[in-house]
Amino acid sequence: MKKLADFRGFAFDLDGVLADTARFHSIAWQRIAQNLDIPWTDHLEAGIKGIDRAASIALILNSVNRYDEFTASEIEQLMQQKNELYQEFIATLTPDDVLPGIHQLLAELKAAGITMSVASASRNAPGIIERLGIQDYFEGIVDPTTVTEGKPAPGIFLEAANILNLPPEQVIGVEDSSAGVKSITAAGEVSLGIGAEAKEAQLHFESTADVTLAAIEEQLKNLD
Ligand code: G6P
Ligand code: MG
Repeated sequence: MKKLADFRGFAFDLDGVLADTARFHSIAWQRIAQNLDIPWTDHLEAGIKGIDRAASIALILNSVNRYDEFTASEIEQLMQQKNELYQEFIATLTPDDVLPGIHQLLAELKAAGITMSVASASRNAPGIIERLGIQDYFEGIVDPTTVTEGKPAPGIFLEAANILNLPPEQVIGVEDSSAGVKSITAAGEVSLGIGAEAKEAQLHFESTADVTLAAIEEQLKNLD
């Protein structure tokens, strides 16, 4: 049995957890795939979540065994095109795009004296957090360019604990992707998953709206 008092920090993924931006990554990559006549599948839709740009384009091209058709500079161009599309979408973000229940959760955690950091693979994370107006809740945002291996490797969540000056055991990592839950587990933190693709997490909620301190406390009772 565990309790909330065993933890002093929370590390939040961004896309699909704090903000409704996973759909923008998806639409932008779908457009790139369409230009290349690559069919979009459920496997790609779930698989691109949590992984970085280079891993995403590799996943898409490998889904039709076409990765070797492209030179390194062509791959670079595809990633840049995707990011330009993505940046057009995120330019429209406002504080209303914070996912349901997240404002209340961040306020509850802050009031409880729990410190927080952002553990996203996205290089666009600082700009998005700013647009959403939630920057003051966080001690810091992991810079994914300083982490050698992205999710599912532990680096991003380890760095998120490091920002909080906490050992991983005192941190709960929050994720909506399968790659992200694996990263949390590999980092030695407790995993809190949201939605269908994060079912393997130790604590699990269908939607961000369901995540409250009381509900977390309740689920922690079932952990060894
Ligand atoms: C997040 C998203 C991924 C995205 C990655 C990199 O982890 O879940 O879908 O590929 O960030 O984002 P960026 O904004 O750097 O391309
Ligand atoms: Mg995510």
